Amino acid sequence: MQTPNKNCHDKLIFALDLGEDIGEAIRWVDLLKDHVGMFKVGKEAFTRFGIPIVSSILERGGDVFLDLKFHDIPNTVAKAAEAAVKLGISMFNIHALGGREMMERAVDSVNNTARVMSIDPPVLLAVTVLTSLDDSDLEGIGFGCSTRELVLRLAMSAKDAGVSGVVASPQDIIPIRKACGKDFIIVTPGIRLDNNVTGDDQKRVLTPRDAISMGADYIVVGRPIRLADDPAVAADRISEEISKGLA
Ligand code: C5P
Repeated sequence: MQTPNKNCHDKLIFALDLGEDIGEAIRWVDLLKDHVGMFKVGKEAFTRFGIPIVSSILERGGDVFLDLKFHDIPNTVAKAAEAAVKLGISMFNIHALGGREMMERAVDSVNNTARVMSIDPPVLLAVTVLTSLDDSDLEGIGFGCSTRELVLRLAMSAKDAGVSGVVASPQDIIPIRKACGKDFIIVTPGIRLDNNVTGDDQKRVLTPRDAISMGADYIVVGRPIRLADDPAVAADRISEEISKGLA
């Protein structure tokens, strides 16, 4: 049965970073599919379980955000994008650092493949600067600018290339929204309710309500749902917070 907060839980993406075996991952899908809008399948789950994890989610009526962050030469990323669209996923991502041509080829590939298949194209997002990198890391790599400057430059470049949006850390939501406009999609991880997650490695966090009211379109949540006593109740609580953020 669907929860009443349909529109709000559509904005909630559950990070499926778990499971020693595919059966365990699928049990989480069964538990949460009526309480979240999408399941994020990242490099860990995809490398471990392969395409069957994607098809199992789709067979159960769930939607998939394929978080594989493609970064390669334009031709390879265009072909990978075509393959991603053919999986039937709703959202996937590429690295903006792959360059303008790579992003444009990915956009063309998504649109052409969706047209041939007569389906709506999935949302294509760009990752700008990994949040594990700070200003001194960028200097060490050879960039002569701050992470904030690079995030904004890459977000604007992604927008110009026709990419639909970005994955952005909580502190970048407002500047990206200002630079890229209201239709640019912002997906934000680093979400926490008031309870702390034990041994947490997220340094910059926001509540679901604050992330949405600051301008995030979707939030990605893992441990606050996964470690809750009742994960479905925790997901519903987050949807309620989203509705307050929208209000
Ligand atoms: O458990 P938690 O809510 O921190 O999970 C957040 C998810 O978002 C994880 O899949 C994590 O890899 C991902 N993520 C993140 N920070 C980023 C990009 C992705 O936490 N900058």
